Amino acid sequence: MKIVVIGGTGFIGARLVSILRNKGHEVLATSPAWGVDTITGEGLDAALAGAQVVVDVANAPTFDDASVAFFETSGTHLLAAEARAGVRHHVALSIVGTDRVPDSAYLRAKEVQEKLIRKSGIPYSILRSTQFFEFIGRIAQSAVDGNSVRVSAALFQPILSADVVATLADITVGQPLNGTVEVGGPEKFPMAELVRRVLRATGDQREVIADAHARYFGAELTDQSLVAGPGARIGAKRFGDWLKERTSP
Ligand SMILES: NC(=O)c1ccc[n+]([C@@H]2O[C@H](COP(=O)([O-])OP(=O)(O)OC[C@H]3O[C@@H](n4cnc5c(N)ncnc54)[C@H](OP(=O)(O)O)[C@@H]3O)[C@@H](O)[C@H]2O)c1
Repeated sequence: MKIVVIGGTGFIGARLVSILRNKGHEVLATSPAWGVDTITGEGLDAALAGAQVVVDVANAPTFDDASVAFFETSGTHLLAAEARAGVRHHVALSIVGTDRVPDSAYLRAKEVQEKLIRKSGIPYSILRSTQFFEFIGRIAQSAVDGNSVRVSAALFQPILSADVVATLADITVGQPLNGTVEVGGPEKFPMAELVRRVLRATGDQREVIADAHARYFGAELTDQSLVAGPGARIGAKRFGDWLKERTSP
């Protein structure tokens, strides 16, 4: 089976490529640096020739309004090229809560990406993941407020990215779901608590303020916004174990 991974050099894509190759599949990892660009369309037809499955794990360069245009243009070009190539399964990694947080440009962008997939007519599977443990540092950076860090107090359910990659690999080699599945971590925490624990673990003593009105990439959150629903797949790794392993000498 020939599988093309769009964004195959990224944080998720590179590990997905290696798992799929280890399973014996022919995998083409692509990126703009390697001549395949979903925004310009460059290299898409050649890359997709003879492909049965395409996995889209490309990402926008920013999380602001420009991300909406990125996912709209990228998805439009990619799905059109897949239709021309006769691709039989389109797989995409999205985010839990894309349809619940309209004030976040990035989550709106992911919803645009999902809608294009659903109306494309190409058999598909969408995996919605919660936030990666490795992303919590970036949440902290985005929440800096003077000398402190002001973070939402809402619950979230982060997951080890490797658990997401493993789930994505299973879905990629399976039959198209023509639907959406969710994957999340094994525990839920107030976001501010984990930001504090990640900062402390790296020696950062800045005050972390839990604020119900603090915005998460532009949006206020509730305890339901970013939490997976019933029936979600659950990653194995616990946050505390990950943090201990990451910070032990
Ligand atoms: N962070 C989270 O907690 C989280 C949670 C759930 C889902 N996700 C989703 O996971 C997906 C993958 O994220 P990631 O962290 O692996 O992203 P990443 O590390 O930033 O990698 C992005 C990939 O996209 C490629 N790319 C960028 N612009 C492109 C273009 N115009 N055409 C084709 N490829 C392009 C990049 O290539 P270059 O290296 O050449 O730039 C790179 O291979 C994203 O769609 C994101 O929404 C993330």
